[in-house]
Amino acid sequence: MTTDPHLEALQDRLLRRIEAYMPVRGRPAPPRPALIEAFRRYPRHLFLPRYRPADQPDGPALAPGDAAFLDHAYDDGPLCYVDDHGASLPASCSEPGFIFHLAELLDVRPGHRVLEVGCGTGWLLALLAHAAAPDGEALGVEIDPGLQALAARNLATAGVANAIAVTGDGLAAAGRKTFDRIIMTASAWQLPATVLTLLADDGIAVLPIQNKGLSQEIHVLRKDGSTLVSRLTRLCRFVPLTGRDGADADVLMPRLDADPDITRLPMTGLPDVLDFGQAEPERMMPPALAFTGWLSKLDPRFRAWRLGAGDARPSLFGDPQVHGFGLVDAAAGSAALWRAGYVTAYGDAGARDALFAHLARWTAHGSPTGYAFGLGITSAGAASPVSHPSHRERRGPLDFWWWLRPPAERF
Ligand SMILES: C[S@@+](CC[C@H](N)C(=O)[O-])C[C@H]1O[C@@H](n2cnc3c(N)ncnc32)[C@H](O)[C@@H]1O
Repeated sequence: MTTDPHLEALQDRLLRRIEAYMPVRGRPAPPRPALIEAFRRYPRHLFLPRYRPADQPDGPALAPGDAAFLDHAYDDGPLCYVDDHGASLPASCSEPGFIFHLAELLDVRPGHRVLEVGCGTGWLLALLAHAAAPDGEALGVEIDPGLQALAARNLATAGVANAIAVTGDGLAAAGRKTFDRIIMTASAWQLPATVLTLLADDGIAVLPIQNKGLSQEIHVLRKDGSTLVSRLTRLCRFVPLTGRDGADADVLMPRLDADPDITRLPMTGLPDVLDFGQAEPERMMPPALAFTGWLSKLDPRFRAWRLGAGDARPSLFGDPQVHGFGLVDAAAGSAALWRAGYVTAYGDAGARDALFAHLARWTAHGSPTGYAFGLGITSAGAASPVSHPSHRERRGPLDFWWWLRPPAERF
């Protein structure tokens, strides 16, 4: 607990925001007392290295002792870690309101063994370790050795006796023991097969999953026999895992001019308007992103592309001049490309027709975002983990199964 009134006021303000955080409209989800206690016991600023507020990518980096360091540390926003040369790293201290919500969903109880992949400089790891105390423990895995060293130092300085941070790449670095709770704070394209055994029976894993294109969701999955089944989904935007389970940019979003399946086909007819009812380009992207969340799960022909140069870091929802998407059926010689509010057909018109048929179904279902989808994870080739219709997507050594939750189950 601090005796500095300015710091105390900042901490109180952030705590009020965390307690009022509302993941779903009209449904506040305040964190449990153990997490609030942990917030007071392990102050965020003591775990922060030099950082830059994520919404100020060109602003100055702030170091402990700088006038604004504490103010931003107790804003409810993500803070990008900065390297020795002042460049922002692909690593951040996540937005506290959302992180506390995820910690609450993880449901850590005393005695649990907890794994966090992507522990950064250790703040969330300390909070989770506190919720697992006195008999439980937390293991943090961090791919960046410099950040892992900071996490180890911060945990020791803060007196967190039941957590350690190790350097390693993803879930595979956690060894062979099982965990009651697993959380990842960087998004995965694929997962190692060991995720099915790493989680104890009835255990909970909170995993951000990156889809092709720009959409991501975080799933709260429960271990059910030899499968993981998602109970709840939230939209999210995490940095991608940088190791073996991260997404290859050319899988997620190849460059259009380097995709032979579309460049070899002649254009067919004139482009059709598909502007989601939003004539201004910047307003098209949120619905376009939600639609790609649907397509990525329900149609294996889905692809997203970087148009033109397009190598710049995407903005939150992407840019309709830089990011395109569509369907490709290479065997049928058919493709459809959406860019900036228009759909262009290439070769056979089947892909374009299928894209508009998806649009009609997506609209009829209330234009859902990825939040409306359930996810099951099984070993490759196994049966679907659910009895209702679901769509299989092979990702690395595992099958991901997607289904649209009925509206009453989208909580
Ligand atoms: C968004 S930061 C989250 C930091 C911290 N957990 C938090 O919530 O504030 C994601 C972290 O994941 C780490 N990371 C990325 N890929 C990883 C991998 N393959 N294995 C372990 N850590 C990874 C990054 O270096 C970064 O520190």
